[in-house]
Amino acid sequence: MKKYIKIVLITLLSLVALLVIVGFGGWMYLKNSFLEFEEDYSQSIQVQQKTTDGYTYTDRNGNGTLDPYEDARKSIDERSSDLLAQMTIDEKIHLLKGSGIASAMGRVEPGTGIPGAVGTIVPTPRLGIPTTYLSDGPAGLRIAPKRPNEDRTYYCTAFPIATLLASTWNTDLVQEVGSAMGNEAVEYGIDVILGPGVNIHRHPLCGRNFEYYSEDPLLTGFMGAAMVNGIESHEVGTSVKHYVANNQETNRNNNNTIVSERALRELYLKGFEIVVKKSQPWTIMSSYNKVNGTYTSESPYLLTEVLRNDWGFEGLVMSDWFGGNDAVAQINAGNDLLEPGTKLQWDDLIEGYENGTLSEESINRSVKRILELIIKSGKLDGETFGNNPDLKAHAQTTRQSAAEGMVLLKNESTLPLASSKNIALFGVTSYDFIAGGTGSGDVNEAYTVSLEEGLTNAGFSINQQAKEIYEAHKAANPEAFVKPEGMNAMFQPYNPPQIPYTKEQIEQVSTGSDVAIITIGRNAGEGGDRVEKDDFLLTAVEQEMIKNITDTYHQANKKVVVVLNIGGVIETASWKNIPDAILLAWQGGQEGGNSVADILSGKVNPSGKLPMTFPINLNDHAANANFPLDGKPMGMFDMVAGKEVPENEQVANVDYTNYEEGIYVGYRHFDKAGIEVSYPFGFGMSYSSFSIDTLITKLKNDTIYASTRVTNTGDIAGKEVVQLYFSKVNSSIDRPVQELKEFAKTDILEPGESEELTFRIPVSELSYWNESSDEWSLENGVYEVRAGASSRDIKKISMVEL
Ligand code: BGC
Repeated sequence: MKKYIKIVLITLLSLVALLVIVGFGGWMYLKNSFLEFEEDYSQSIQVQQKTTDGYTYTDRNGNGTLDPYEDARKSIDERSSDLLAQMTIDEKIHLLKGSGIASAMGRVEPGTGIPGAVGTIVPTPRLGIPTTYLSDGPAGLRIAPKRPNEDRTYYCTAFPIATLLASTWNTDLVQEVGSAMGNEAVEYGIDVILGPGVNIHRHPLCGRNFEYYSEDPLLTGFMGAAMVNGIESHEVGTSVKHYVANNQETNRNNNNTIVSERALRELYLKGFEIVVKKSQPWTIMSSYNKVNGTYTSESPYLLTEVLRNDWGFEGLVMSDWFGGNDAVAQINAGNDLLEPGTKLQWDDLIEGYENGTLSEESINRSVKRILELIIKSGKLDGETFGNNPDLKAHAQTTRQSAAEGMVLLKNESTLPLASSKNIALFGVTSYDFIAGGTGSGDVNEAYTVSLEEGLTNAGFSINQQAKEIYEAHKAANPEAFVKPEGMNAMFQPYNPPQIPYTKEQIEQVSTGSDVAIITIGRNAGEGGDRVEKDDFLLTAVEQEMIKNITDTYHQANKKVVVVLNIGGVIETASWKNIPDAILLAWQGGQEGGNSVADILSGKVNPSGKLPMTFPINLNDHAANANFPLDGKPMGMFDMVAGKEVPENEQVANVDYTNYEEGIYVGYRHFDKAGIEVSYPFGFGMSYSSFSIDTLITKLKNDTIYASTRVTNTGDIAGKEVVQLYFSKVNSSIDRPVQELKEFAKTDILEPGESEELTFRIPVSELSYWNESSDEWSLENGVYEVRAGASSRDIKKISMVEL
């Protein structure tokens, strides 16, 4: 017996020892490969000011003389060339990757760095080059709001999601939002904002669609460029992402997008092309996926031939976080910076240099681009920051831009509401409004104005009985109402359960209120795609809620408004006939409730237009035949350790996705196939009405000039968007029925007032990608120029002949 106990004890102890050794080894591996491997390079940088010939500079390398790179009067090219020449090969290789996962997790030693920033360009202490900071993202800056041992907070403004901004169709306004974001970055010491996202909404269920603008590349490109110009007006960089054809979250790190060159050029690359040509962003972020078998971050074709040679991009390309597989191939392809960087990548780069697979020329090319960015950011010129953005002013910007991007989908003599009304708010998200999506596109804002607060601020009285039902429901489901924090918040969309209202409750609430507002909420984000059941489609509880509330209110001759607080498209066709009005509020940032109240009260006349189609059925989308429909979420480790599957075991829509629909995405498909939709691309109502009185077109020197006169024919002041679609008459090739080629928005027009809008379309923009000659080709002949209030509401047509 004793012997038996001894054996068991020895076995147990050995097991424990083994676990400790494996655990310790694992930890050391993790620490040395991902967390802390910067060693000598992490020493602090001490520099002194010097004056030579009356010019004061920072003597960064401590040699007592003014080097060209220390001289802010010299050009970026001269300064970066000088720096490059002074760097050792080790220092250069070191610069090609970030400082590791600790930086990606926003971890810094107290009092150093910027907590919550997600990446760095590493310092070079010998030359006095400090760390450069990168942080997300598309709806506002994301840094940690609190710091140890400090009372003050570092909140950022949660601006509206990109999809909402695209719905404004107002590039000036989007540029203003960008400018506010850029100011926050400067104030908080961030050098590059990781956004905007300009991927195409290929399918409504992509979990990150909220970060992207549209199903149309022109609208996407115009919005992206406006955002870049706004942010970069503050001498802060952007990283336009995710380049390219990254249209699903399922297995995003390994998924192989199989796509025709034509669809790539005309749709997926096009938005990036427009951004590059209109705004020359400081950086582009390559995506995780492969395109036609090669990781985008390892593709010389995408990163060098197309991006730089064809379009003239001058900035640097960084990888998405842990993206790609082969560090040497990445640098060789033109992916200059590996983020957030690992020790393994560093070792591979050194080995590549030593064995000749990574030439010094490739290294110099990428390092030069990185140095140019560092210099542009002002890092070498003693740039300081005040940690004091004007959050109040930015709250106004977000409130105003959100209201302008909300889309009125239906209004049967219901809106705007008279302010004396007592409003019953139904639905969890009326009280717990969603400001934006989850993942890296989330922002740490100080507050979110709910619809309840917004309406109260606007002077409405809120029905207390309806509120009590919400409070009781919340109290009965305490765990479901705990908002995930920190990293969890990034990967777990907060979706508390909907309230199953009884008919009695509805009856009671209806008696004491004048109007009902039902809010339907959806929250999705990085790491998972949405699903059809209970997400694209309304849940049974939501369907009953809309039906029962409307029945009861209509019996009492009272109106019902549905507010959609969503980040992506949902099904509307089966229930849109039931309520009296529908407002697509999107996720409007931290002032969302005030913005909705501005519209419901009539303070703002809605002028948003859909940047995508709302289909009747999900399956009406051609892309539905090839999209992961089961929404399998990504695990935490898939990000760093995703694995590739041998070809014979690959699963469609997981390991590879075949973009069989080609160029027929969004309205291009619905128009071509003659499919009825619930709400067409470009649709959106106003409290007023507008006419497009004229459309004049003229061809001069390879440019088509168009002008329209728009008149407010209603009795409320408001804005209208004119969309110009081009359609080739008697085309001899397979091409979309029509494509958006320009758009413009009026100022606020008073009743009866008119405005002339002008458009300029280079003829080359009518080209299609010719797969037989591998180039853009122009079809000669007659084109219809269609001026519309939506893609399916064309008001005037004119012809041009090329
Ligand atoms: C996302 C990027 C983001 C990066 C840093 C990645 O997971 O795909 O969009 O910028 O993380 O947070």
